[in-house]
Amino acid sequence: MAGNQQPEVNIGLVGHVDHGKTTLVQALSGSWTDQHSEEMKRGISIRLGYADATFRHCEGVEEPECYTVAEECPDGSESEPLRTVSFVDAPGHETLMATMLSGASLMDGAVLVVSANEPVPQPQTEEHLMALDIIGIDNIVIAQNKVDLVDSQQARDNYEEIQEFVEGTVAEDAPVVPVSAGQEVNMDLLMQAIEEEIPTPEQDPDDDPLMHVARSFDINKPGTTADNLAGGVLGGSLVQGELEVGDEIEIRPGREVEEGGQSEYVPIKTTIRSLQAGGEDVDAATPGGLLGVGTGLDPSLTKGDALAGRLAGPSGSLPPTWDGFTMEVDLLERVVGTDGEEGEVEEISTGEPLMMTVGTATTVGAVTSAREGECEVNLKRPVAAAPGAKIAINRRIGARWRLIGLGTLKE
Ligand code: GTP
Repeated sequence: MAGNQQPEVNIGLVGHVDHGKTTLVQALSGSWTDQHSEEMKRGISIRLGYADATFRHCEGVEEPECYTVAEECPDGSESEPLRTVSFVDAPGHETLMATMLSGASLMDGAVLVVSANEPVPQPQTEEHLMALDIIGIDNIVIAQNKVDLVDSQQARDNYEEIQEFVEGTVAEDAPVVPVSAGQEVNMDLLMQAIEEEIPTPEQDPDDDPLMHVARSFDINKPGTTADNLAGGVLGGSLVQGELEVGDEIEIRPGREVEEGGQSEYVPIKTTIRSLQAGGEDVDAATPGGLLGVGTGLDPSLTKGDALAGRLAGPSGSLPPTWDGFTMEVDLLERVVGTDGEEGEVEEISTGEPLMMTVGTATTVGAVTSAREGECEVNLKRPVAAAPGAKIAINRRIGARWRLIGLGTLKE
C-alpha cells in the first residue's frame, strides 16, 4: 500500500494567525488546506481544513535526515512509507475558537506553531495552548517557525521565551524544533519529533463505529435530473470502529420536524453507498483523517453543512440526544488573552446565554439553574453526546463569544 495510505493519526496545527500553519502543512504534504473560496478571500482557515502527508524513511541514512516526504532517497533508492498523518489546520483567527475546539476534540496530538520573530505569547498562541490544556491533548510538538527571519541570538532568546511560556502547561515537556516552513528547513527534524511524540492511537476494531460529522454536502450540479442525483454526502472523522460500504447507519440528532407548532428532532437512517478516505474510494475505513461518506439520503438534507455537528453510527449504538443537560463546570481563572481583574471569569448565573461546543456540534443554550461547580442548560438545538463528554463553554463578552471554561456532561 505505498502512496495513498489511509491516515492513521490526526494532528492539529494550532497557533497564532500568520505564524505559518498553512505553509507548514504545505511543506509537509504539498497540498494547500485553504480550499474554500471564502477562506481564500479572508485569508484565514474558517472551516477545518485537512491535508494528508505520508512520512517516509530512507534506509541506511542517519537521523534526522532519514525522515522525508519524498518517494526517492538521496541515493536514488525508494523510501519506505512509515505512516500517513492527517493535519487538521485549525483556524488561527481569535473569533473562531469554537471551531478550533470542536476540531481539537478529534486531534490525537498537536503541533503548536510559534513565530520566532515575534514576542511570545501572541494572543492565539496562548488561547490555543489553553484549549489543548483543558481538552487534555498532551502529545505536542512546538515548531519554532520563520527562523530564517532572525539571527541566532534572537532565535535563542525566542526559544527561552517559549520555554518560559509553556512552563506548567500541557506543553511543558514538548520538544521545540526550529524550522523554516517557508524555506523548508529542518522539516526532517520536525517529522522525527512528530514520530516520537505523537503516536498512532490504539484502536479496537470491534468497537461500534462512531463518526463525528463536521460537514455535509450536496455534490450534485444544479439541474441534475432526479434519476442521476447522487445521495447526500457526510464529511467528518471516524473516532472508533470500522465503516463499510453497505452498512446501515443512523444519524443523531437527525433532522428537525415541525408538528403542531412544536419542533422535534428525529434520527435519520440511511445506507452507506460509498466511502472516501485519504482521497481514494475505499470499501472500508478505519479512524484517521477526514472521511467522506456517500449515503442514500436526499441531498437536500445534507446541503450546506445541514448535518454538521451530528453523530453517525450503527442504529441503536449512538449516545443519547439532549435538549438540555447538566454539566460539571471548571471555569478558567481569566479570559484568555486578557490581563488582570478585567479578564476575571465570573461565576455562571441563571438565565445567561452560553455557547457550547460538544464534539463537532456547536449550540447555544440558556442556563436554567446555576450552582457552584455545575449548571443546567436548555439548548436551542439538541446535541447527541455520551455522558462524560467534554464541552467547551463560551460566554458573550462585548461583541464576541469567549472561552470561559470546560464542562463535563453529567448522566
Ligand atoms: P492563518 O491560516 O491565517 O491563521 O495563517 P497561518 O498560520 O496558516 O500562516 P501562513 O502559513 O498563511 O503564513 C503567513 C505568512 O508567513 C505567509 O506570508 C507565509 O509566506 C509566511 N511564512 C510562513 N512560514 C514562513 C517561514 O518559515 N519564513 C518566512 N520568512 N515566512 C514564512
